[in-house]
Amino acid sequence: MSTTSTTLTLDTSTSRANPTPTPMKRLTVPTIRQRKGGEPLVMLTAYTVRMAQILDPHCDLLLVGDSLGQVIYGLPHTVAVTMEMMALHGAAVVRGSYHAAVIVDMPFGSYEASPEQAFKNASELLKQTGAAGIKIEGGKVLAPTVEFLTSRGIPVMSHVGLTPQAVNILGGYGVRGKSDEEAKAIVEDAIAMSDAGAFAMVIEGVLEPIAIEITQKVKCPTIGIGASAHCDGQVLVTEDMLGLFERTPKFVKRYGGMHSFVAEAVEQYAKEVRSRSFPGAEQIYKA
Ligand code: KIV
Repeated sequence: MSTTSTTLTLDTSTSRANPTPTPMKRLTVPTIRQRKGGEPLVMLTAYTVRMAQILDPHCDLLLVGDSLGQVIYGLPHTVAVTMEMMALHGAAVVRGSYHAAVIVDMPFGSYEASPEQAFKNASELLKQTGAAGIKIEGGKVLAPTVEFLTSRGIPVMSHVGLTPQAVNILGGYGVRGKSDEEAKAIVEDAIAMSDAGAFAMVIEGVLEPIAIEITQKVKCPTIGIGASAHCDGQVLVTEDMLGLFERTPKFVKRYGGMHSFVAEAVEQYAKEVRSRSFPGAEQIYKA
C-alpha cells in the first residue's frame, strides 16, 4: 500500500481543510490535450476537499461529476443536479488540489438551450470554482455550442455514448451502440465534438470497437468508462472503485472495500460508546 503523504502540510491551527502545499504547477488543458496517444490519462471523480487532497497526487484530472447527485445527495439520477451544487463542490475540489486539472460537469438544463445560455453558465462555474474547464454531455447537436465556448475561452470536455443526463430519453443506463445505426451516430457525435474544439472526450458505456474507432478518429484524447483500455485515458467514479456501494457495475473494478471498512469501524465505535469504553483516559481532558 502506498504511504505517499496526501495531507501536504496541514495548518491544523486554522483549518484541517486548508493545505499549504509546496508550490507545484497544475496540469493545464493544453498539456492534457497533448497527451493524445501518449501516457494514458488518469481521471477520477472528486466532490469534496479531503477526497481531492487524497486523489490529487495520483491523477491528471479530477472530475467534479454530476454523479454527485447520486453519490452525495441520494438522487435517483443526475437530472435534478443544480448549478449551485456543481459550483460549491467544484470550488471545494479546486481548494483541495494543486496538481490535477479540475473539470466541472455542467448540470442538465444549464447548457442545452443555446450557446449563449451555455456560455453564461459555464463562465459562472469557472468563476465560482477556479476549475480549468467544464464537461457537457451530447453529440452533434451541441457542436456549435462547443465551438462558441472554446472560441470564447472556455475549455470543453465532451461526453459521448451513454449520456446519463438523457436517462429519460434512453430509458436506462444500458450499453450504447448495439445497432450499426446507433454505433455510427455515436462515432459521428464524437468526431463533431472533437472538430468543434473539445480538448478531451469521455466515452461512456459503448461496445469496445466503437471506443477504439473514436479514439483512432478524433484529434483529442479519449477517456473511457465502460469503453476500452485502448482509450487515451480512464475515469471511474471514485466511490465505485473504492467499494463504497454493495453493487459493482460490470465496468467498475473495485480497488478497495470502503463499505466494510467504514461499517466495521462504526460497529466498533458503537460498541465502545454503549459499553462506556469510549472515550478512554487518553481522550479525556484532565485539569
Ligand atoms: O458524472 C460523472 O461522474 C461522469 C463520469 C462518470 C464520467 O460523468
